[in-house]
Amino acid sequence: MNTPTTHQKNQSKIATSFGSASQSYDVSARLQRFSGKHLMPWLPNRNDLRVLDLGSGTGFFTDLLAGSYNQVIGLDFSKNMLQFAQQSRSKDIAWLEADAHQIPLQDESIDFIYSNLVIQWCEPLDEAIKEMLRVLKPGGLIIFTTLVEGTLHELKSSWRQVDDDQHVIDFKTEEQLDEYFNTDASSILEHKCQNIILEYQNVIHLARELKGLGANHLPKKKNRGLSGKDKWFAMTEHYQDFLEPSGIYPATYRLYSGLVVKLNN
Ligand SMILES: C[S@@+](CC[C@H](N)C(=O)[O-])C[C@H]1O[C@@H](n2cnc3c(N)ncnc32)[C@H](O)[C@@H]1O
Repeated sequence: MNTPTTHQKNQSKIATSFGSASQSYDVSARLQRFSGKHLMPWLPNRNDLRVLDLGSGTGFFTDLLAGSYNQVIGLDFSKNMLQFAQQSRSKDIAWLEADAHQIPLQDESIDFIYSNLVIQWCEPLDEAIKEMLRVLKPGGLIIFTTLVEGTLHELKSSWRQVDDDQHVIDFKTEEQLDEYFNTDASSILEHKCQNIILEYQNVIHLARELKGLGANHLPKKKNRGLSGKDKWFAMTEHYQDFLEPSGIYPATYRLYSGLVVKLNN
């Protein structure tokens, strides 16, 4: 048997982390709901289309898509997420357990890809984009959101004052996304970037929400154990610098939404 590569090990840990959150995900998903709905105006208004929801999670948006389009496929690499989706969503959806870097679909077989808050987890991103473009028909669309640099900057800077370990994943910049999608093979038709500021009662509330979303696997984290009570306490003290007069703790999510077309080459 082949030994798994670092990439495969990381992907498998991300999948496990999301999988363990499959039951709590829908209650913690305020940002995901907002961002996914926000893509709706870009959806094509023909229904005879074959659609791929890439990183479908609990299938909330896959189900909405299935209400409008003929053939909908939900793809996710987390078995638990897929099981949850399969049990709770429309029977007409086809579910695929697969990695976005190796999509088990034929070339040019999909009309558009919908992907809400997934590609920030795809490393290397260019390989995932290559796969998306391979399965898309010429002229097909990628309609997606992701998080870019600036996301969770309050948490990042509070931790930075305590140690140099990784506590928040590295997000791409808007410029990097432009470079990834504006190539010979694809082009960004429209994009938007906005800060969404969510409010938390305390830092534990924020940490619980990130855990409830399964968004807590950090590939570059050196210290794999708990961060230590003292360090955690010191970080929360620094987070107080961001406290709003109302006593609420803000966390910024910098949301990038993109409409990309596969070029006819
Ligand atoms: C933040 S959740 C979003 C779920 C869903 N799109 C939604 O809007 O509710 C990210 C999902 O992407 C999946 N995911 C992350 N990286 C993936 C990859 N490389 N291949 C397939 N699925 C992936 C995770 O398992 C998780 O279910």
